[in-house]
Amino acid sequence: MTTQSWLEQDKTLLHPLHHPTAHQNPLIIESAQGVWLKTVDGREIMDGLAGLWNVLVGHGRSQLADAAHRQMTRLAYSSNYAGMSNLPAIELAQRLAGAAYPNLNMTFFTSGGAEANESAFKTARFYWKQLGQPNKVKIIARQDAYHGVTLAAMSATGITPYWPMFEPRVPGFLHVDAPYPYRFAGEIKAGETVGTAAARQIADLIEQEGPETIAAIIAEPVQGAGGVIVPPDDYFPAVRAICDQYNVLLIADEVITGFGRTGEWFALNRYGVQPDILTFAKGITSGYQPLGGIQISDAIREVILNAPPGQRWMHAYTYSGHPTCCAVALANLDILEGEHLTGNAAARGTQLLSGLQSLLHLPHVGNVRGLGLMAAIEFVQDKESRTPAIPLAEKVQAACLERGLLSRVKGQSYLLAPPLSISEDEMSHLLAIVREAAAAANQP
Ligand SMILES: Cc1ncc(COP(=O)(O)O)c(C=O)c1O
Repeated sequence: MTTQSWLEQDKTLLHPLHHPTAHQNPLIIESAQGVWLKTVDGREIMDGLAGLWNVLVGHGRSQLADAAHRQMTRLAYSSNYAGMSNLPAIELAQRLAGAAYPNLNMTFFTSGGAEANESAFKTARFYWKQLGQPNKVKIIARQDAYHGVTLAAMSATGITPYWPMFEPRVPGFLHVDAPYPYRFAGEIKAGETVGTAAARQIADLIEQEGPETIAAIIAEPVQGAGGVIVPPDDYFPAVRAICDQYNVLLIADEVITGFGRTGEWFALNRYGVQPDILTFAKGITSGYQPLGGIQISDAIREVILNAPPGQRWMHAYTYSGHPTCCAVALANLDILEGEHLTGNAAARGTQLLSGLQSLLHLPHVGNVRGLGLMAAIEFVQDKESRTPAIPLAEKVQAACLERGLLSRVKGQSYLLAPPLSISEDEMSHLLAIVREAAAAANQP
């Protein structure tokens, strides 16, 4: 088969975010090893986004294939509905209990991130209904948040181009400004920082809507698809305090930040904050099988366990607790822990950020930011006005790809999130490509 004939046959495939203009010269990936992708026409390209932020341990790990094979030949699938269970799901839930945050000890499994967030929203509503507060149903999210594209997750997502052709959105999803130091749009009152002002917006919105109507706040610790927006250190402690003050649950969407990406096992630990519900996906299997889920606080667990049978937690997926996916997750956790990849994310993250910061002298590089192994370079027309330079970011993306580095842009920001297994030399190679591409694209 030639590349051309593969491309011809690809026309029967409707892709995520499909549009012909975005699919004129698709890369068809045939195999991958470590941080390297290989296309059907033999090109080797570094995977600068670890698949979709998820391939934490890198590509081509035979241990994960072996784990899937072992489990599939023993028990590929069985129901996990109440009344049944299976060994890998039990073992994985045990291993996850208290591992992200000490107060989260019970896990429900989904197939991915959007399903995890749907599960979190429904669980928050369930919790308040059981506690006699049936009007606490609204969810507060942030602008430029990404929580997935099923209807409720899309309604929580704050990247607005996802909305118009699928509206109406699910009612009751509200948005506040992101804690985005470079472009914070909200008012900063005397004595406030960007972090505390962004948090105060949440309190203002709760007051305006009435605390008796707000079920939860959902937040990614670092907003990923929205442009790797790293919050100031004082933001999450302030958000947690507001949640406590108004009796609102905090849902941490760690679909990207979980399992080591930020240099912490789970990202809110950095701020000494615990969520009430955690949503995870992606990195739990490094993408080798589809798996996600939620972890719930001990308080929520008690409410679910003590509900009358007629008001049970009526939530379910066919693939919840999928034995093969859970077996692969267990083997993936063995690699993440055995190879100390969280520590590597911290070390290589420092290398990545300082390498990117060396570009700040370029006239169109407005901002460089990152935490662990997620980072962004933001391009502007000039540093004074900070007017976004979207074509420039796209030019850098294309120049990187030409030089053998694949990643993506969000508006004027070029994003990077390579596998956590990346070596020091590979990171130097990545940085050399970005430096060259940015310098070439910054020429007048
Ligand atoms: C933070 C976050 N939440 C949720 C999702 C949705 O996950 P999925 O695509 O598995 O539904 C994503 C996907 O990129 C994400 O980045």
